[in-house]
This record gives sequence, C-alpha cells and structure tokens, in this order.
Amino acid sequence: MKQIKIGLIGFGTVGAGLVETLQKNGDLIAKRSGILPVISKIADLDTTSDRGVLVPPGVLGTDAMALIDSPEVDVVVELVGGITAARKFVATALKRGKPVVTANKALLATYGDELFALARENRTEIYFEASVGGGIPCIKALREGLIGNRITEIYGILNGTCNYILSCMETDNTDFQVVLKAAQKAGYAEANPSMDVDGLDTAHKAALLASLVYGKWFTASDVDVQGIREVTLNDIHYAASLGYRIKLLAAIKEIDGSIQLSVHPSLIPETSLLGHVNGVFNAVWVRGDVVGTTMYYGRGAGREATSSAVVADVVDIGLNLLGKCSNRLPAFPVFDEYKGLISAAEVVSRYYLRLQVADRPGMLAIISGILGRNQISIASVTQKEEGSQQAAVPMVILTHKAKVAAMNKAIEEISRDECIHAAPVVFRIEDLG
Ligand code: HSE
Repeated sequence: MKQIKIGLIGFGTVGAGLVETLQKNGDLIAKRSGILPVISKIADLDTTSDRGVLVPPGVLGTDAMALIDSPEVDVVVELVGGITAARKFVATALKRGKPVVTANKALLATYGDELFALARENRTEIYFEASVGGGIPCIKALREGLIGNRITEIYGILNGTCNYILSCMETDNTDFQVVLKAAQKAGYAEANPSMDVDGLDTAHKAALLASLVYGKWFTASDVDVQGIREVTLNDIHYAASLGYRIKLLAAIKEIDGSIQLSVHPSLIPETSLLGHVNGVFNAVWVRGDVVGTTMYYGRGAGREATSSAVVADVVDIGLNLLGKCSNRLPAFPVFDEYKGLISAAEVVSRYYLRLQVADRPGMLAIISGILGRNQISIASVTQKEEGSQQAAVPMVILTHKAKVAAMNKAIEEISRDECIHAAPVVFRIEDLG
C-alpha cells in the first residue's frame, strides 16, 4: 500500500469536497488501486470558516509556499482558481519536482505551454481532469481511451451555468435576465456572470480540448466566442418549432488538416444526444475516425463531481510515483501533424438569423436578395402571422452552409437597410450529422 500525501492549496467548495471524498472513500480507493491518498496539509487564507468537514489539528494553515516545500507533501493540489497566485503555486511546485493536480482551466488555457514545459524540465507532471467537464473523465478518454483515433470533431456543452439558464428559459418559459437573476439568487450563477454567460469559460475549456488532441497550444484568444446574452425566449420558441434546441456549444473540428475553434449559441437537433443535455449538466461529444462517435456526460461543476476528478488524478500520480515513472503519456505533446487555425471569417457554418423587419410588401425580396448576392442560400423562412399589420415583425431565416465572412457582409448590408428595426441576431446551426 502506497500512501500519497496531498498538499491542498485552496480550501473552498471543491477543496472541501476532496477532503470529504477521501474521508468517505479513501479505504475503497486504496483497495482498488493500492494507493491511499491522505490530506497532509491544507493552505487557505481563511482558516476559520465551517466547510462542513473536519480536518485534524495542524493540517490547515495559511502558508501555501511552506506547504509546497514540506517533505510531508508528495503531490500539490491547486484549487485556488484565478491565475496570478495559482500560476506561482503551480510553477513553484513543479520547480521543486512535485507533481500537481489542478482544476484551473483559465490557468492552463493561458499559461499551459509554460507550465507543461516546466513540468517536463523537472521530470514531473500536471494532471488536470477537473479542468474540463468537472467530474466527467473526458480528458482521460481523449488522452488515453481514444489515442488510436484521429479526432475529427468535438462538440461540447461545457458550461453548466449557461446550460442551466438556457434549459430554464425553455422549461419555465422565462426570459434570460429573469432566469439569470434567479440562478444568481440560488447560487447557480456567479454575482458577476460574465466568464460564464459571455462564453470565456467555455472558450478556455475548448482551447484545452483542442490543444490536447491537435498537438499545438491554443489559448482562449484563438477561440471565436459568442456568449448567450442575445438568446431570447422567442429564439428558443422558434428553434423548438423548427426541431432544434439552443445550447452554448463549443465546436472543435479538424477540416482538411486545419482546426476550427468556436463557441456560439447553436441550434442543435432536439433529437440528438446533446440536445437532451439539460440543466447544469455538461457533455463532450467526440468523433474519432476509428471509434466513430462517443459521448461523455455528467456534472460539469460542484463539490462532489469535481472532487471525483481530482481524486482520480491523485491516484494516477500515486501510481506513477509507485512505478517510478512520469509522463508515460505526455499531456500536451506538441507535434507537427495539423496545420494552424482556420480564421474565424473562413469558418463555414449554417446560420439562424433573426431580424426585426418592417411589416410591408417586398421585405422578403430585399433580404433574400442580399443573402443571395453573398452566396448564402436560404433553407427556411418563418414569419408568424400577427393578426393585424404591425410596424415591425420578427423574421427567422435558417440558411445552408456559408462562410462567416459572407454572413458578416450580408448582415452589414441588411443592417444598413432602413426597413430593419433592430440589430440582426445570428447564431450557428450544428446538425451533428
Ligand atoms: N462556472 C462553470 C460552469 C464551472 O458554470 O460550468 C467552472 O468552469
């Protein structure tokens, strides 16, 4: 039996979940793996709050650097979040040759190349299962389970807050702002929800997944991102009437050797597996050229789910320490197989287009003319009958595939027309075929 001593930096929700999980299932983990993970030291600036778990006297302190240096720590688990302090803690641990487990997607999606290089130089490693999809073991599936595959597409519902909001809008027939406020009150959404609803959290996770499988470092700034603030209840109704659900979807694709990285509110078929991923749940849908399609589903955040992934990483590290090996499978090997990114303007997609148009003769001809001149083919047009003639009415157009550049140009032209009464709204359509 190998005891592995954990130094935990950050005793918040997930940190407390880790302590609780080890107290509950530590013996079982030891029987199954031969590794007994124990919490040796915890560092957090707050040493007094009740986290709902008890730790032995002397374990909890405030000095993270002393924790890293302690001979009583075999592995450092970084759960502080944020970037600046976390980067310092992770880098210091690696320089001391100590393996690190982190759930910090923002850190890895920003400084991953630097930190993984540091890990290699110091013959140690970083495990990061909890950084994407919380408790879903999707990193392990992509790194190990699917190593025999060329990954052609990954679609991810990677943000529980956005998925919860979009799901509640549909089930409760309620507008975005109302659901967001309720979610904040219930603790499901942050007081400042920007990282989630503006798509950056999903972009961090998408960049990590792409870096994992395509042998290049991608950062969030490589991702074309659109958040969910523009999604209205009407969009959800229109999408449903056309057989779709709207999800904040990460689309990671290899097309002729180049990589597409996008995050957009996207219409996906309501009959698809991803279309059934609701509430706070996350899912990662992967197509490999050998295996075909697979999907990984579960809770993307939260105390228990995230600690499940952290414990698995600690056990992996323990097994490596026991076997006196590291980096059996390099985490982010940089290799030359794929070309670079497809620029956002060159991406090809189908689109959902919602316009607020003057209710008068010839409108459809004007709009279809602009789309046609930009080589955008219309797949369907929906305009609900309003009873009497209105000043302006919504018109929803689904298109066939076209380049983003063409759609941007068409939107610019449509917006300039005096018969358009509000800024056009454009989402993507992913048929997941
Ligand atoms: N805030 C994220 C979410 C979890 O709502 O899914 C952490 O990435």
